[in-house]
Amino acid sequence: MKIKKISHVAIAGNDPEQSRILYEDILGLNFSGSEPVESEGVTTHFFDVGESNIELLEPSGAATPVGKFLNRSGPGLHHLALEVEGLDDYVEKLKQAGIRLLSEEPKMGAHGMRIIFIHPRSTGGVLIELCEKS
Ligand code: CO
Repeated sequence: MKIKKISHVAIAGNDPEQSRILYEDILGLNFSGSEPVESEGVTTHFFDVGESNIELLEPSGAATPVGKFLNRSGPGLHHLALEVEGLDDYVEKLKQAGIRLLSEEPKMGAHGMRIIFIHPRSTGGVLIELCEKS
């Protein structure tokens, strides 16, 4: 079990083109592609920041988790993702410690990663994703 790095910082928004202009054209980050994640009802847009990414989350509709987040909180920071080795062991350890997770088991996320979210109520207010290459 090991935390390897910050995988990505995810920002929810409805205007990926405006974000692309900022991150790619003005700040000069490399845009590394978009990928729909059907299970979460979002399209992810990735910009490389060294070994990590900024991940823009664009909801596919108002009833999706990110769509609801935007209605409730407006655009902004959505979650922080840590890449780990030993995801299933972390899930077990978190459950044993009584930490609240958003799902019972990891799901498939973007980039072929298995992911699970730790509830903000268990983290001091930040939604935290743990992910592992599958
Ligand atoms: Co993520």
